[in-house]
Amino acid sequence: MPAVYDLANRGLLPPGFGLVGFARRDWADQDFAKVVHDAVKENARTRFREEVWEQLLEGIRFVPGTFDSDEAFQRLRTTLEELDQARGTSGNHAFYLSIPPSYFEQVISQLKRNAITGDGENTWNRVVIEKPFGHDLRSARELNNVVSQLFSPPEVFRIDHYLGKETVQNMLAMRFANELFEPFWNRNYVSHVEITMAEDIGIGGRAGYYDGIGAARDVIQNHLLQLLALVAMEEPTSFEASQLRTEKTKVLAAARVPSDYAAHTARGQYATGWQGGQLVRGYLEEDGVSPDSRTETYAAIRVDVDNRRWAGVPFYLRTAKRMPRRVTEVALVLKQAPHLPFPATETAALGQNALVMRVQPDEGVTLRFGAKVPGTQMEIRDVSMDFVYGGSFTETSPEAYERLILDVLLGDPPLFPQHEEVELGWKILDPVLEYWDSLPTQPDPYAAGTWGPASAAEMLARDGNTWRRP
Ligand code: BG6
Repeated sequence: MPAVYDLANRGLLPPGFGLVGFARRDWADQDFAKVVHDAVKENARTRFREEVWEQLLEGIRFVPGTFDSDEAFQRLRTTLEELDQARGTSGNHAFYLSIPPSYFEQVISQLKRNAITGDGENTWNRVVIEKPFGHDLRSARELNNVVSQLFSPPEVFRIDHYLGKETVQNMLAMRFANELFEPFWNRNYVSHVEITMAEDIGIGGRAGYYDGIGAARDVIQNHLLQLLALVAMEEPTSFEASQLRTEKTKVLAAARVPSDYAAHTARGQYATGWQGGQLVRGYLEEDGVSPDSRTETYAAIRVDVDNRRWAGVPFYLRTAKRMPRRVTEVALVLKQAPHLPFPATETAALGQNALVMRVQPDEGVTLRFGAKVPGTQMEIRDVSMDFVYGGSFTETSPEAYERLILDVLLGDPPLFPQHEEVELGWKILDPVLEYWDSLPTQPDPYAAGTWGPASAAEMLARDGNTWRRP
């Protein structure tokens, strides 16, 4: 809702835009409008302006009903027809299914049965689906079969909101608009790649969704594998959706977790601990979590990409709740210089060179390298060269959902993963999930507010590497 308002505020929505809610609650239009209003006031990125809100408000409707009610879907149809007439929306509709995947089939067949999507000849109909896209390869395929009963592939927009983030798109700019980075972007210079998405929050009120799903399904299968694809893919011939997807698909098809899963994966579950000066509950004590739950809140995997550019370079992906801080970053860690013509004592504080793309917060890019410490010795220590968005640009970045919702309305697909990418994500992850399921033990505990279980550090130590402390 805030993203829709921000788009309106930036003048990017047509004046006739309408927003129709459909849910079980017995609400009138104005009840729904109030919820939207409050969400917008509290969370919109741009300033609240009464005149923009008034215009949006004119197009807000609400249809109460359950998914099994034909009568409710008929009312939805009438409401859409009235809006089309009154506001000149010409029958163009985007259906945003913010519902559990188990209801997809029912809702899609209702849309179909009640002819809500129209003939599609002079109008467009699109469907927006939020992750999770299934919980394994088989269920993802089933989901896709259901969706494709009514919508053709170009009409389906799968939201992976990481692709809508400015900093994620900037990874493409960095790689393909510059000559500087390409020479070392390969196995000759890169030792390993770390992709981290750490959150300081716990699961909040989301136990119903999260318990049984876990960190790997929630985040690695989609956001982190998409980041991997963008870092590792070859240059697309253009930024047209099909070209971009072709390159992402090729790299995901070459990616796999090495089959010794005990050595190359780690999972954990947060226990009670201190965070931000407060003692917080462990995962098993969270409301709605089953007391013997084996759901992981920390997941780390090693992914190898079997192609000429990346053979032998491990990509380490990790995500977790209740880390010391919120940070998402992609770091290319380079090999050591082949020879150091300095006494070892003078290079003791020299680490590995690294290029770090900070997705959030403190959006920007850092290059780390060794420099001489001023003085009479040849002492060398790591320093950073920083690009910070705020230092170079005056515009603030739009929220991911602004960009993605606008792209749905424009029918612009490059930032939306296609089904094949979703399938490949599950093909990479399914064997790991099956392995974890087969273990008789709980995930390794880690205290809330720490960087995860010892097993995650050991996983990298086996390769002679260590996790960065972002
Ligand atoms: C969602 C996950 O996709 O991303 C959540 O389901 C997670 O568990 C969220 O908290 C994080 O998004 P962001 O944009 O705050 O990094």
